[in-house]
Amino acid sequence: MTKTILKALAGETQDVPPIWMMRQAGRYLPEYRATRAQAGDFLSLCYNSELAAEVTLQPIRRYGFDAAILFADILLLPQALGADLWFVTGEGPRLSTITSAEELAQLKPVDAIDETLNPVYETVRILSRELPRETTLIGFAGAPWTVATYMIAGQGTKDQGPAHALKAENREVFEGIIDRLTEGTIHYLSKQIEAGAEVVKIFDSWAGSLNGEDFEKYAVVPARRITQAIKSKYPGVPVIGFPREAGDGYVGFHAKTGVDCVALDNSVSADWAAEHVQSAGCVQGNLASSHMVTGGQALVDETRAICEAFSGGPHIFNLGHGITPDADPDNVQRMIDAVRGG
Ligand code: CP3
Repeated sequence: MTKTILKALAGETQDVPPIWMMRQAGRYLPEYRATRAQAGDFLSLCYNSELAAEVTLQPIRRYGFDAAILFADILLLPQALGADLWFVTGEGPRLSTITSAEELAQLKPVDAIDETLNPVYETVRILSRELPRETTLIGFAGAPWTVATYMIAGQGTKDQGPAHALKAENREVFEGIIDRLTEGTIHYLSKQIEAGAEVVKIFDSWAGSLNGEDFEKYAVVPARRITQAIKSKYPGVPVIGFPREAGDGYVGFHAKTGVDCVALDNSVSADWAAEHVQSAGCVQGNLASSHMVTGGQALVDETRAICEAFSGGPHIFNLGHGITPDADPDNVQRMIDAVRGG
């Protein structure tokens, strides 16, 4: 039996698309909040393999999604490279900044990251033993540009201003950070695959702020380098790329990078994406996550419309971005019923 997610990633068109959801293990679920409280805080949860596996499994038990995504965070890699990382409740991540050649030189070598990340690989091993046999295990990392925006600014930013400024003012250091993250990501994803991840996803949440040539150099090229490296070492392992808010940059992304699937945010219409993106390979997405808060008939109608738009090719149903903490868990079930029940 081939798993439904792997069939879609191999290019198969299915009557009912497989489904999973970004941030499916998260604060909208009471069982997640309980386990997070048991762990103490978010980072302690990420590094506690047993509890991280437990929260990964919670949405699988509750909803029977077709894929589980490893519970971790894209910012664990910079932490493993030597950046300080902490989370401020209600605000988000904070990191020590890196903006100079000296600070770049102080980062740890790529193979030293395992000291920090070993518990994450252990989470993957637990999951590959405990997941139901029909459920696909997805590993992930942040794309170099997105991770760099946090490392350079020391926090999340609306317009990625500090990273754009460093790119303009000191391109050598900026590109040094991108290169180090590209190498680190290849190593990190390889270790996840060796521990049992069956698919890997590269989250480029801020790809949309890269324009023109910058999009090619800092979103497309790193995604291609990572994908080629993974495919040369693990030929059967599919890669999902998510250049969020790339707009026209979604067109040709499969071919330029070699990814098996392009994940779509909800700023593009499903009909447009079916014609211009799905024609080149599997797509994933793209329901607005606000429907998980608002529910109602609009949720059902929009879910069906997305399934219909993508029904002519390989498709994995998902949201356009992560589910938010204020979502109603019952709306998630309504979405799944609309996908599976037609
Ligand atoms: O999707 C999943 O369920 C797997 C786990 C996962 C998390 N973060 C857990 C998390 C994944 C794949 C991520 C990716 C991630 N992390 C991204 C890329 C995707 C995206 O959302 O754009 C980014 C940019 C981050 C960085 C990050 N982590 C931020 C900005 C925040 C704070 C914002 C927020 O939602 O609170 C986090 C925290 C985080 N990562 C939480 C979870 C479940 C919430 C932490 C908590 O429990 O308090």
